Order: sequence, then C-alpha cells, then structure tokens
Amino acid sequence: RFMTAEPFRIKMVERLKKTTKEERQKWLKDAGYNAFKIKAENVYIDCITDSGTSAMSSEQWSALMLGDESYAGSKSFYKLEESVQDIFGMPYVQPTHQGRAADFIMAKLYAKEGKYAIGNMHFDTFRGNAEVLGALAVDYVVDNGKDTASPSHPFKGNIDLSKMEKLIEENGSDQISVVIITVTCNNNGGQPVSMQNIREVSNLAKSYNIPVVIDAARLSENAYFIQQREDGYHNKSIKEITREMFSYCETATMSSKKDGLVNIGGLFVTRNEDILKQAQQLAIVHEGFITYGGLAGRDLEALAVGLQEGVDEQYLEYRINQAKYLGDRLLEQGIPIIEPTGGHGVYVDGRRFFPHIPQNEFPSQRLVVALYEEAGVRAVEIGACAFGSKDPITGEDILPDVETMRIALSRRVYTNSHMDVIANALGEIYKNRNLYKGMKLVYEGPIISLRHFTAGFELL
Ligand code: F0G
Repeated sequence: RFMTAEPFRIKMVERLKKTTKEERQKWLKDAGYNAFKIKAENVYIDCITDSGTSAMSSEQWSALMLGDESYAGSKSFYKLEESVQDIFGMPYVQPTHQGRAADFIMAKLYAKEGKYAIGNMHFDTFRGNAEVLGALAVDYVVDNGKDTASPSHPFKGNIDLSKMEKLIEENGSDQISVVIITVTCNNNGGQPVSMQNIREVSNLAKSYNIPVVIDAARLSENAYFIQQREDGYHNKSIKEITREMFSYCETATMSSKKDGLVNIGGLFVTRNEDILKQAQQLAIVHEGFITYGGLAGRDLEALAVGLQEGVDEQYLEYRINQAKYLGDRLLEQGIPIIEPTGGHGVYVDGRRFFPHIPQNEFPSQRLVVALYEEAGVRAVEIGACAFGSKDPITGEDILPDVETMRIALSRRVYTNSHMDVIANALGEIYKNRNLYKGMKLVYEGPIISLRHFTAGFELL
C-alpha cells in the first residue's frame, strides 16, 4: 500500500455533494443521457477527464502571487522558459492558452493538404485541425495496442514501424508531411511509447527527411513507464529520460493541463529556429504576444513550478500506482479493462463488459450512464459515439477498433477511498450486467468527430 499512498497532505478541501439515485436518474434524463450535459455540482467523483483538473500545490499557489503581468518580456515567461528547457532539453518555447492551440500552430506548420500525417493514435484536436487543412491523419499504433485483453505488452502506444515504412515506400516520402508520437497514447488507455520506438521512428523518419513531433501532454507519465519497464532506464532519472525522448524530435506540443499540473495552459517547444519564428507569428495572431501566449503571468508561474513537480518520482510512483490500484480492484471482480493499466486512468472494455449489447447500441456509453446512476461517478465514452464515423458515400456507420469507458483520474485530487467507491459501483453493475440494454442516438451535431459533446440518447 505504500506505493499507492499519497505523497502529500490536504491543506484545503472542496466540498462534494452526495446525491440520491432518484435525483441522478432525473438529471440523466434531462441531460439526454450525455455525461457532458450533467452539471458538475451534481457529480460526486468526476472522472470525465484528467485535463485541467489537477490540484495545485502550496508552492504553485504561492508562485501565482509572483506573476508578472507585463505584456512583453514578463519575468514569469523567462522562469517558464527555463523550466521547460530543463525538462525538454529543447531551446525554444512558445506558450499557448491550451494544448489544442499548440496543435493548431503545429498543424499549420507541419500538416499539408493531401499529405499524410502518421501517428500512433492522433488526438481529436490535431485530427480536427489536420482535416480542416485537408491533411490525411493515419493511426499506426501497433496491433497489440488495439487488443484490450493482452496484459503482457508493456508499450501499447508504440508506432508500427513496418506500416510506417510501407506507407512511405508506396507513396514516396514527399507524401508524408510529419510523424506525430503522442505520449502516452490517450485513445487506447494512456499506454506508453518506449524509448526504443521513439528512437526507431525518429531514425526512420530522419532517413526520409520527415520531421517528427511529440504530443507531450503526458510526458512524465510516459517517462515513468520507460524507467520502470524498459531495459537500460531503471537507473536514469525522469528528467534524463524526458530529455532523451525529446532529443529524437524537432518539435513538441503540450497540453500543460495534464502533466504540467495546472488548470490551463499549453506549450509549443522546438529546436528549429525557423519553425519558432513562424510559430511566434501564428501565436501573435491567435494567442497573444510571444512571452505570454494567451496566459496570465501568474499561469506561467504556476506552470513553471508544476512541470517540475510532475517529474518528481515519488509523485509519479503514487500517480501511476493509483491507476493500477483501481485497475486491480476491477480485475479482482472480473471486470474487463485495458491491460496493463495505463497512466492517467482505467479504461473499461464496453464490448466485453456488456457482450449482449452490439457496438452500434453504444455499450460503453451505456456503462457511463449506469456508473453515474449507481454512484454519481462521471466517466467518459471513448468508443462508438466519440470515435464513430459514417461512410461518406453509403452513410453507413463505421465503428472504431477501441470501445471503452475511460475513468480518467485527476492528478492529486481523489483519494484511494474514492477509487474504492468507483470499484464497488462497477462491481454492482457487473453483477447485474444482463439487465442492461443498449442505447439509441437521437441527436447529433453536424460535425461527426465532435458529436459526443452534444449528442442526445434514449435508453432501449
Ligand atoms: N493532446 C492530447 C494527447 C490530449 O489528450 C489533449 C486533451 C490535447 C492534445 C488537447 O489539449 O485540452 O489542453 O486543448 N485531452 C483532454 C482529454 C481533453 O480529456 O483527454 P487541450
């Protein structure tokens, strides 16, 4: 239990409301059975995301008071720059208001119309940006990264090198504009990418002159997995590992709302001076002047401190083992999850949980609804609704490979008693799983890749 025990104590608390099942049933109906439409105050344990929901430390709160709100040349920017350089080992830093703004700048500079952008699994906001620009975003995660039931593979976020090489050979290297490695891989369970894979992907890309970008939202969680699981890294510090990871890329983007341990912010980091200059121009138009990038000076201060706290090994040991603790409690009850447990949450396999509910009746979304109804716990569907699409010609549903309910764990927020509440509630649902039926989508917005945010459902 020592590994999962919190390496902090609580100085300030935020009251949570416990509600009744009848109340939750009413709120679910009012929300069209869409978790995004439930009021946060009616949620007891909120696992819809790990983004922007971290608890800041006393050091971060004190740093806020030092924020230099100067429009240009803020002292807080230089502190952030130094902290980022220390962890990334890269020279040039452009802050942004959050991750998708850095994605936007990166897509503008690296995604090209009609050309491929190879990734392990691209995150939605890059995919959206790429598609608007007419680029072809392809997901080349290794095959076992799509197999939820194989616990023995330690790096399910890796890119499949042979698929990558085949695409390059078949189309010519000039048809591939960028390779983006997302660490950890959010879409299939917060699964890590090994150093060997980052190195090999980078070498292959370099041999064809294709630039490599790392989406670094969860950089320290990835580095911790490398330290624990990859030969040759057990005695390296987290910072030595992060610096080596970024030595293989030209540019990195980051949603600092994850491993930056802050509530808002993003980063565009590069070693290419020319790319920096272009990024700065885009930042000035869309974000703000280059030394604040859409953030307040105090936000820059909190991030400078948060990035350093995020690479602390005692924190990371607790963090990763909290997810494992929840995963193990679910496995004990026979509940099917993506194994091994990843970095920022536990992903329950909707198809194996409710084998009698077909994928086009949204088994994972049904589980999200059941979990909120049972215990006021809010998770999120990453499956047929969020990642489903339609054949442009026949209009038929195209269903995704991964069909899960993600229980995302906020950083330093919930205790292991909260993990027990989640595990017990899912245990109850699992015992009665045969009583649940599927769902029908009754409303979706015009942009299909964003439909999960506003969709409306009915229970069958
Ligand atoms: N890249 C990855 C890998 C992400 O997971 C996210 C956000 C972003 C980029 C965009 O960053 O939200 O700061 O604009 N992921 C959140 C999630 C929303 O719930 O997984 P942002």
